[in-house]
Amino acid sequence: MHNPREFGKPLAIGAPAPRLEIPFKPSRMIHFFDPSNEKMAAKLPELAAQADILLGNLEDAVAVDRKEPARAGLVKIGKEIDFGEAALWTRVNSLESPWVLDDVTTLVGEIGDKLEVIMVPKVEGAWDIHYVDRLLAQLEAKAGLTRPILVHAILETSLGVVNLEEIATASPRMQGMSFGPADLAASRRMKTTRVGGGHPGYLVISDPDPDDPQAPRRIAQQDPWHYSIARMVDACTSAGILPFYGPYGDIRDVEGCEAQFRAAFLLGCVGAWSLHPVQIEIAKRVFSPDPEEVRFAKKVLEAIPDGRGVHMIDGKMQDDATWKQCKVMVSLAEMLAHKDPDLAEAYGFAYIGQS
Ligand code: GLV
Ligand code: MG
Repeated sequence: MHNPREFGKPLAIGAPAPRLEIPFKPSRMIHFFDPSNEKMAAKLPELAAQADILLGNLEDAVAVDRKEPARAGLVKIGKEIDFGEAALWTRVNSLESPWVLDDVTTLVGEIGDKLEVIMVPKVEGAWDIHYVDRLLAQLEAKAGLTRPILVHAILETSLGVVNLEEIATASPRMQGMSFGPADLAASRRMKTTRVGGGHPGYLVISDPDPDDPQAPRRIAQQDPWHYSIARMVDACTSAGILPFYGPYGDIRDVEGCEAQFRAAFLLGCVGAWSLHPVQIEIAKRVFSPDPEEVRFAKKVLEAIPDGRGVHMIDGKMQDDATWKQCKVMVSLAEMLAHKDPDLAEAYGFAYIGQS
């Protein structure tokens, strides 16, 4: 049993109180960078102007002999670079690794005031979040932080998928979740060698034509991730936290990436990872609602100010439920317009910019 009255209290004396509402800021892409790569670090101010979230990656893709330089590089970056409106996150090493304790201790101690979110890989159950939750509270107290650092779990093991709901509700520190198709495929023993996207072998095929059994049959590739992403969206949105699609590994396949991101967007994800600047552009396009749809949604809200009853607009039935869908669309568009002058113009909303 967990006493609900305890949720609003810090887990260590002197730590900041947990946030009971997760802030929803522009989050269309989490752009990954390797903090041990100085050339990449030099590009960060430019990337910060384009991306909503920049994440210094310490886990997979960082070689064992680069783990410590990556951690030290991120400390330097956090202290020296002005990220403007972009948020700074990190992905620490997994909880069983020899690096994670130093990752968390060093980063919270040195740049805890700059880091908004710590992404924890390979989360399997609420116990993983409870461990990080208490440790962060102790370190926040020690560092004298006044704002709690939030936690984001990667959903990338079969046990994690089984325990989705308890992970999403494990702590008020939970900010969201990302879907990790590469590790998830390995954990499930899926027979793939890809990072996200479909597979030419995962198909549905129409029945043979009885009058012409040799005639070509219609074939369509299926989405192997649909079930798990949809479950993640439900677990996150029911807990008031944010779901993201994760990586798309084939950088040259911009169409495949766009299709994967769009499927996630339509199901309810707020953003996706970008592993290359070209994917920042794709995420921006996909996770910013289409201006035509926003215009229609605005029309519905204006025509039905109280959101009640049944109405016909442009030949389509609108009621309380479609009004709520339109509200989701228009609220997202408004938030993004405040940050992006081009979107503000496309949507017809005010651009506020950095204040
Ligand atoms: C991401 O970390 C993945 O494993 O897909
Ligand atoms: Mg992974």
